[in-house]
This record gives sequence, C-alpha cells and structure tokens, in this order.
Amino acid sequence: MIVVYKGVNIFYTEKGIGSTVVLLHGFLENLTMWNGLVEEVSKRNRVITIDLLGHGKSDCLGYVHTMEDMAEAVKQVLTHLRIRKAIFVGHSMGGYVSLAFANKYLKNVKGICLMNSTAQPDDDERKEIREKANKIVRKNFNMMVKMAINNLFASTSKELFSNEIEKVLNEALKTPVRGYMASNEGMRLRKNSEEVLEQIQKRIIIAGKEDPILNYESIKREATRTNTDLKVLDNGHMSHIENKKELLETLLEFIRS
Ligand code: MLT
Repeated sequence: MIVVYKGVNIFYTEKGIGSTVVLLHGFLENLTMWNGLVEEVSKRNRVITIDLLGHGKSDCLGYVHTMEDMAEAVKQVLTHLRIRKAIFVGHSMGGYVSLAFANKYLKNVKGICLMNSTAQPDDDERKEIREKANKIVRKNFNMMVKMAINNLFASTSKELFSNEIEKVLNEALKTPVRGYMASNEGMRLRKNSEEVLEQIQKRIIIAGKEDPILNYESIKREATRTNTDLKVLDNGHMSHIENKKELLETLLEFIRS
C-alpha cells in the first residue's frame, strides 16, 4: 500500500490486529527484511512495515535523507492509518529513524527496540568513511554494496548463511544509488539521541557481540548510561538472519511485556 508524502510515494504493509508495532529496516534493506518475523508478531499485534525513503518501493526525496525526513515519512503513514501510539523496532538505520521520530513525537511512542542500532552519533572515523563512500559509489555501486553487505555478518556466519546473504545482497542492489547516497549522508549528519532514548518508557537495545560495525563494548556502555535494557546475542549485525529464533523470542517478550 502507498501513501504520498511531500509528493513522493511511501510504501508500507499492514497485518494483524492489536496494539501497533512498527518495523523499520536498515540501510540498503527494505521492508522484506521482516518477512520471517511478521507472521509471528502479527498473531497478536498490528504490524506495520515501511520502506524508508529511497529504499524498497519508496521514492527518494531530494538528495539528503536525514533521519528526521525519514521519521516524517513514517509519521505520514501512521497518520494515514490513524495510529496514535506504537512500539518501534528499528534495525540499525531504522533505529536511528525511530529515535528521530521519538524526538519529535514522543507521545506517539510506546516503546523502542534498537535492534543492532545505537543512539550514539557517528564518530569522526565513521563520518569520514561515509564521505569517502559517497564519493566513489556513483561509479562503483555494485562493489560498494557488496562490501557493505559482506561487512554486516559475523565471520562465522558467512558460510553458514551464504544463501541468505545472497538474498540480502540482491535486495540491497535494488536500492537506487541516490537512495544510498542520501541515507548515508543523513546518517552522517545524525546527532546523539541518548537523551531521547532515556525518555522512552519502554526501551531495549539488542546488541550483537560480534557486530562488525557497532562495537559491542560501546553499546554496552550506552545501555548503562541510558539505563536501557540490553539483550546480548552471539551474532553480527544481522540478528534476524544470524540468530532468528532468539531475536524473535526477545522481540515478542519486549512487545508483549
Ligand atoms: C545499517 O545497517 O542500517 C547501517 O549500516 C548503519 C550504519 O551505517 O550506521
């Protein structure tokens, strides 16, 4: 289904009845990443999945997609569906978007699960990597996407989940180069959201001990600083693939608590 936000199409799906859970995908992903989880969650909840700006079947809007822009597109979907309050589960960039949403619409947020995500901004090194990536991605899109996807999995997962990784890559390659660049820049610009996280009544961080892009020790300190529940899984950045069963259990417990 589609809603129009600032003249561009935003694609979403809806399934089930009950209190609402909004699932937001990460960078170079799209709402199909949730396919293996929606069935179970929607047995007792209304589940909304949304293609964020410049991803999946949603259009690009300008040349920079800030986390705030993406959050406004999410708000448009929820307003259209007359949803007043929801639990947000954000995978990686989807977590940054959830926090941007909470910053502006706190009263509409019942809870946030940062799944392989963080309220911390980029450090200088990561900012530089993003700048470099945006300089070369126009000419080397396939290579850059391959590298990015390969870098999301724990080394022990690479062989074990080679078929799934291939599927993730195929979905990622559908992202338009403008979507890549606009989100990458939007993520680079994001601010620290720890104070936002602290204001959300119900909150959890799901961290991968072997996450190659989010340092586990740093996430652990963040959880302590913000007094946020922390669930640690023995996998990389892609919990929904590398550790689906335990992830699902954790999500259901959080959503239904
Ligand atoms: C993601 O998986 O959404 C991104 O890799 C997160 C990031 O680059 O910070």
